[in-house]
Amino acid sequence: MYKITLIPGDGIGPEVAQAASRVIDATGVPVEWEMVNAGEAVWEQTGSLVPDAVFQSLERNRVALKGPITTPVGKGFRSINVMLRNKYDLYTNLRPVISIPGIITPFKGLDLVIFRENTEDLYCGIEKVIEPGKAEALKIITEHASERIVRRAFDYAARQGRKKVTAVHKANILKLTDGLFLDTARRVSQAYPGIEFEDVIVDNMCMQLVTKPDRYDVIVTMNLYGDILSDLCAGLVGGLGIVPGANIGDSMAIFEAVHGSAPDIAGKGMANPTALILSGAMMLDYLGEHTAACKIRKAVMMTIESGTVLTGDLGGHATTAAFTAEMIRNLLSLSGEEA
Ligand code: NAI
Ligand code: MG
Repeated sequence: MYKITLIPGDGIGPEVAQAASRVIDATGVPVEWEMVNAGEAVWEQTGSLVPDAVFQSLERNRVALKGPITTPVGKGFRSINVMLRNKYDLYTNLRPVISIPGIITPFKGLDLVIFRENTEDLYCGIEKVIEPGKAEALKIITEHASERIVRRAFDYAARQGRKKVTAVHKANILKLTDGLFLDTARRVSQAYPGIEFEDVIVDNMCMQLVTKPDRYDVIVTMNLYGDILSDLCAGLVGGLGIVPGANIGDSMAIFEAVHGSAPDIAGKGMANPTALILSGAMMLDYLGEHTAACKIRKAVMMTIESGTVLTGDLGGHATTAAFTAEMIRNLLSLSGEEA
């Protein structure tokens, strides 16, 4: 029996978290969900954004499935998502971007993976007002954090038989910070002679990705560019409703979708749970439950490719609940057959 922390989060979080936990349960992998919550909803009830129970549960279970948590824009508290990644040194933000048959997009057959450094860069959140009308933010880049994320990207490429790693930066302008990341990436790349290495400046990378995304395989980059490129890549394969992610450290991992709390559709039963369901499949892989993870991916493909029961973002009219029920039906139909 796996004990796993489930953090529903804000906005559409509870809707997609319920869907994802149900789909995982339907695989038959024995999971005891320990539900704890953080974010706006908890703040209103308890006056605490992250109750101690969340930290205790994470530290006990070391594996979590997490819905999105709202972060106020321009004022108010710092991102809880960023805080958790820092507190537990979840330095790899892994985001696979894969085309799903049945979703009409300008590109077919995309299969790339983003490795985003998850603990430093401008996300340190160190800002100050120097004088009225003038503010500054600190961008922190270290050789240590750059080296470990680039190593993760190359190790993954080597393990998965991938051909190329692309480091994304703006070292032409940020010569010391991004320059350090780029120098480190170049140095690390030399230990992997079988894998092609290239570097691309981030603005050009955006243009390349929206015109020739199939040229990319594994992308490794710093925190802010990784955040932006993830949403861009989500757009290439059908939107934020389908792209999963994981925050992985040396002894803990929190699985969550790329998307946020989607306040525009929250509480309406319209959210696409696929992104968190596929994050759940990544979690099962992390736990060594590869057969169950494959079953979930197959059920996702079957459900979307058949096109009969789809959420609004994919062009259908189904509710989150109906879509999830269809996915579970497809998943159960796989039982007994080789997944
Ligand atoms: P968002 O990702 O929540 O939404 C962007 C757009 O995509 C919206 O139109 C939304 O309806 C749509 N969308 C997102 N997920 C969807 C899904 N599963 N199904 C169907 N449509 C979906 O980004 P936004 O609006 O910029 O951020 C909202 C809040 O989420 C902010 O407070 C932000 O800080 C937070 N956020 C939290 C994250 C996390 O917890 N890891 C990650 C990203 C944002
Ligand atoms: Mg983001």
